[in-house]
Amino acid sequence: MPTLKQLAVETLTHMVEGGQERLPVDDEARGILRQWMMDARRGSVPAAAPAPAAAEPEMSVEQKLAYLQQRAADWKPARRLGTLRETMVFAVGNPHARLMLVGEAPGYEEERQGEPFVGPAGQLLTKVLKAMGLQRSEVYISNVCKFRPSMGENQGTANRAPSPEELAACLPLIMAEIRAIRPACIVCLGGSSAKGLLGAQQGVSALRGQWLECQGVPVRVTYHPSYLLRNEAISARRALWEDMLAVMQHLGMPISEKQQHYFQ
Ligand code: URA
Repeated sequence: MPTLKQLAVETLTHMVEGGQERLPVDDEARGILRQWMMDARRGSVPAAAPAPAAAEPEMSVEQKLAYLQQRAADWKPARRLGTLRETMVFAVGNPHARLMLVGEAPGYEEERQGEPFVGPAGQLLTKVLKAMGLQRSEVYISNVCKFRPSMGENQGTANRAPSPEELAACLPLIMAEIRAIRPACIVCLGGSSAKGLLGAQQGVSALRGQWLECQGVPVRVTYHPSYLLRNEAISARRALWEDMLAVMQHLGMPISEKQQHYFQ
């Protein structure tokens, strides 16, 4: 059973990780929080949520990610919901990548292989990266939600999108990954990713085509590859490719005539 202090620290850290900067509290609560803060500074309280970038500035990016992966495996806010499956799927790619791609949650194949974006949507993503002139090993690929959302007995190979609670529970992990990696830009693949990283309420069509921001990192929102697998319309493919061209330009990557005119 978590103690009241652990629950409170976890909740507060979660709020901070989600971008909240202010919380009105009364004098009694302020006194308790001040005492806990002094305890924590003396090292008597274990951190409730991952904050390696702030807490351990001397750690390498690899060490920070290894630490986060370890925390994610037993991530209580997600486990406590009871709606996510057992296997934790963390991330793949280059910890020093300039480009970070963030999806929503692992599906059947990702859970089986323990790696994000290796199923049909992942294979399409790999093709898109190749068309950009990038290998999977050159970028960092992760998900907002680290566990495959459960569908109980009807699961089989079926997948579902994570609920707002499931996204919120896992959010501190991806936020800490972003702080560890500090990529030059992030691509949100699909609406769940944008909801998580940007707190966006609009759909992808309204969010794409502009630079947004998450923790000071420029963000581009585009369609999830699985949407393109369901929707063969050339307009959807063109839109995703335009978003990727904008990303390439932002990263200062060379863009050939062929790449420029792929879907024209
Ligand atoms: N869809 C996602 O959003 N993430 C994966 O890892 C796989 C499919």
